[in-house]
Amino acid sequence: MDTTNKVKEQEKFIEKIQEINQNKQLKYNILTMGCQLNENDSEKLCGMLEKMGYTKTENPKEADLCLFNTCCVRENAEDKLFGKLGELKRVKEQRGAIIAIGGCMMQEKHITDKIKESYPFVDVIFGTHTLYRFPEDLYKALVEKKKQEDILDIDGEIFENLPIKRDSNIKASVTIMNGCNNFCTYCIVPYVRGRERSREPRAIIEEVKELASGGYKEITLLGQNVNSYLRVEKEKNIEFEQYEGVNSFATLLRAINKINGIERIRFVSPHPKDFTDDVIEAIADCDKVCKLIHLPLQSGNTKVLKEMNRRYTKEQYLNLVEKMKNKIPNLTLSTDIIVGFPGETDEEFEDTLDVVNKVKFEQVYMFIYSRRVGTPGDKMKEQIPEEIKHKRFDKLKALVESQIEENNQKYVGTIQKVLVEGKSKNNENMLTGRTDSNKVVIFEGDTSLINKIIDLKIISEHMWYLKGKYE
Ligand code: SAH
Ligand code: SF4
Ligand code: F3S
Repeated sequence: MDTTNKVKEQEKFIEKIQEINQNKQLKYNILTMGCQLNENDSEKLCGMLEKMGYTKTENPKEADLCLFNTCCVRENAEDKLFGKLGELKRVKEQRGAIIAIGGCMMQEKHITDKIKESYPFVDVIFGTHTLYRFPEDLYKALVEKKKQEDILDIDGEIFENLPIKRDSNIKASVTIMNGCNNFCTYCIVPYVRGRERSREPRAIIEEVKELASGGYKEITLLGQNVNSYLRVEKEKNIEFEQYEGVNSFATLLRAINKINGIERIRFVSPHPKDFTDDVIEAIADCDKVCKLIHLPLQSGNTKVLKEMNRRYTKEQYLNLVEKMKNKIPNLTLSTDIIVGFPGETDEEFEDTLDVVNKVKFEQVYMFIYSRRVGTPGDKMKEQIPEEIKHKRFDKLKALVESQIEENNQKYVGTIQKVLVEGKSKNNENMLTGRTDSNKVVIFEGDTSLINKIIDLKIISEHMWYLKGKYE
């Protein structure tokens, strides 16, 4: 469905607010929780706000508009929202700032009910399917002084050409698909982000070309299940234009690899069950595709994986890793793991440790299972006591940290290609960048090296970064 007119309509609201805001030097503050998809959404919200005449401030106390883009993938996100709302109440009282909350958590009725009941000072609430309509919602709140609640529970649509203000001028995120159809039993995302839909190849390629001409060196393709890009469209015979030969994730990687100026391509997250040979071959063939692949494991035990509805077994995961290691030179892997899924026994948890031992990941993102209202996992009987979950988490963490330390040693003495991102936050005199495998490297060098890929000799390793020397 063509949504061009809907986006055009919103441009009018942007202009109207811009007129109202003229010469007022208004400021906005934005807080983003959650994944890179949410961060990319926030960049779009920032794009809209800057067109309306707001400028960004990191200090909510001096903001005329406070925006919160929420996540609900785990419980601690909720604590953070309600803590933050207490703080924003004071900003509202002192400055009369507009308070707007959007994102995934707003798709949960029990949350919006609680906001309306306990935090009545919130002016605008909007969800994941109505982000494009934020200008209209804000206009109504500003001019009509009425509270706006704009949430739709639909499959969702794709909106192109929204304004965007990117966080970096070196690395950019490009969302290639929205939603998720996998329904892993622990996960809330399919309920709050709707069904899987892919952007048109032309829209993605044109966006990346524009980024390349804007001087961007690295792009990250985003989606909840990137390696099923265009699958739903093909299954349901939804028409799309095969632009530059793109009709799958593998062909998308190949097309982007040809774009001059772009030097690094990353993507998150692929699903192991959809890791077909054409994708593996494309990664191996495309020189710009980074050889660090994020391959979410979640659990190393076949029974738990089945309960999680992940649709692969321990052996299938390990075989896939083996195949990838054989076909992709210099491959490194990162992963996501959940401990304490309902019913997980100590022995089953040992399988997760076993896979970690075998694969030797470059990085592991570890999570304690968190019950999410509305998911099948929440209704499962054998919830694991917090104490056991924490014990397992600590055990996994100790193993992962010892592996990272061992792995870091291997870098010392090697020459690594590093994309220089800027000055180090902790030390003004040092520069910081990342290797192909996404390791942070800090080193002494001239600022003229920023936004270049250079060879660095690694001279020492520290848990979360490496030290390099530029010669
Ligand atoms: N689509 C991506 C990731 C989405 S959420 C994928 O399939 O890999 C990011 C990570 O959060 C997941 O990989 C999972 O490890 C974790 N996660 C999701 N739901 C969770 C829950 N209820 N409790 C704990 N961790 C969870
Ligand atoms: Fe959640 Fe699974 Fe979809 Fe990832 S693939 S977003 S974990 S349901
Ligand atoms: Fe969170 Fe939504 Fe991303 S729930 S992890 S922000 S898709």
